[in-house]
Amino acid sequence: SLQSQLASLGISDPLSVFPESNPTTNPVDVFRCYIANTLAPIGGVDGKLIYSSLEWTQSFDKGDLILAIPRLRLKGRKPDEIAEEWAKKFPENPYILPVKAAGTFLQFFFRTNLLASIVLPAILKRKAAYGPINTGNGKRIIVEFSSPNIAKPFHAGHLRSTIIGGFLANLHERCGWDVIRMNYLGDWGKQFGILSVGFNRFGSEEKLLEDPIHHLFEVYVEINRIITEEKEIEKKKAEDAGEKQTYNGPTDEEAKNFFVKMEHGVPEAVALWRRFRDLSIEKYIATYARLNIQYDVYSGESQVSKETMQKVSQLLREGGISEESDGAVIVDLTKHSKKLGKAIVQKKDGTTLYLTRDIGAAMERYDKYKFDKMIYVVASQQDLHLQQLFKIIELLGFEWGKRMVHVNFGMVLGMSSRKGTVVFLDDILADARDKMHEVMKKNDDKYSQVEDPETVADIVGRTGVIIQDMSGKRINNYNFDQERMTSFEGDTGPYLQYAHSRLSSISRKAAIPEQDLINADFTLLSEVHATNLLRCLAQYPDVLQNTLKTLEPTTIVTWLFKMTHLLSSSYDVLRVVGEEPKKAAARLALYESARQVLNNGMQLLGLTPVERM
Ligand code: ARG
Repeated sequence: SLQSQLASLGISDPLSVFPESNPTTNPVDVFRCYIANTLAPIGGVDGKLIYSSLEWTQSFDKGDLILAIPRLRLKGRKPDEIAEEWAKKFPENPYILPVKAAGTFLQFFFRTNLLASIVLPAILKRKAAYGPINTGNGKRIIVEFSSPNIAKPFHAGHLRSTIIGGFLANLHERCGWDVIRMNYLGDWGKQFGILSVGFNRFGSEEKLLEDPIHHLFEVYVEINRIITEEKEIEKKKAEDAGEKQTYNGPTDEEAKNFFVKMEHGVPEAVALWRRFRDLSIEKYIATYARLNIQYDVYSGESQVSKETMQKVSQLLREGGISEESDGAVIVDLTKHSKKLGKAIVQKKDGTTLYLTRDIGAAMERYDKYKFDKMIYVVASQQDLHLQQLFKIIELLGFEWGKRMVHVNFGMVLGMSSRKGTVVFLDDILADARDKMHEVMKKNDDKYSQVEDPETVADIVGRTGVIIQDMSGKRINNYNFDQERMTSFEGDTGPYLQYAHSRLSSISRKAAIPEQDLINADFTLLSEVHATNLLRCLAQYPDVLQNTLKTLEPTTIVTWLFKMTHLLSSSYDVLRVVGEEPKKAAARLALYESARQVLNNGMQLLGLTPVERM
């Protein structure tokens, strides 16, 4: 065990001092605790402050951890003098190489023999469990993501929400949160009146069952065309007759009436709507499964109860939050901040709105789940909407409003599929698969060895789509570039998959029993390629904790690429096959650890790592 390992090195347990440390799940904490414990008496500073001020360096020649002396806010002396003095006073020890002072920083280099003996067995034994640290302690989080609108296309915003939200849900789950994955469907409103009228006129039962999402969209487009045409005709008529008031046409009228029937719960109207909804959800479930996503709840705008909606308007009115304006009801948020504007919460005709439904939905979610945190993964086009929502919840005096977070993101430019500019998730994934298949076929030798190229192309194509999305900061826009995302060159999905399959192949070929890896002589890992890869692997648990703070997929994706770049430059230097047995075992322990961590990271991102490609 770790404890006995340290004891055999003559090290007493320095960890009890730092309750937030997790040395059994995060090996680096052993070093952090030692540094903090040792420096505290030297500098007369609180060890906990030192502990939390230690940071990773950007490059290995600057050390593993650094301490910026100014962060400690010591009065009187110059930080660079303090750094010099502390470096000199730091005793020789089994954890850290002689400490270096660099300007106002202290640089700490881990002793890599000790690091290897702690990190590699931890990874090899803990396997899929290595990385995440239980910091959630069972706290409950709702992650609301994807949330497409039934009968309308699944656009780029939904794709990004799906990818980012799926990842954030996984990450919290692995870090000990009780996660509720929720899809808040756009499944109510006048468009369902339009859709129903369209379906009753020219919908097809057969097509509905076969492909509800495409068929409903087809019907929706066609009936809207008719409505627009009729509107034009009526407008002309009115103009010719010199009338101001225009009639929208019979089809629009019929649609409106149908929606009124839905709102009143007329059975045959509700039954048709429910079929559209159920069949669409059935299809969504299959599509999300391709991205390794399963929802706990399919909620939606339709699911907010009448009672809740009445309560919302009552609370707003009685709290003096809303006011009447031109027959409608509004909340004037400019009183609090100009940019929030005036929010309409009820239309003249008495029907409620997207915003009002969101207020009711949030209240119902709190009542039902008592969440500790709730994340809305929604495009930044809706920044204002969510700011208004959060503000109104605050004005209503709900303390839990502070627990809501909007995770926003930028746009995808130039997204289209072979079938046109209107995109459906299934088409995007199918396109990526076919393109990937083409790319794979170019390498004849390899291609002929892949057992099921169709499946591999499908998985790797999806990886390309996901990694492209996660490569930059969320808020940045990016170009949907099929050529690039299916390429093996650069920081792409196929590159990550290739790294995983190459490591898998090394393991297969070397065929060394697991116990021999765990018990290997790690002092044989002395080359700088080996030690740098090891130092990188040690960062993984901290990378995950950091990602919980940034809520940025790119935090982990960037790190995975850093790790795989180190791997790429190692293969020629650190050979396994044909090497003498002891060295082979030590090196394979390192590679197998890298494969395991890469696998863990990819799964977290929602990817399926492949073993051969
Ligand atoms: N259905 C909405 C749309 O497609 C997204 C819903 C976002 N979530 C929310 N609670 N408003 O634009």
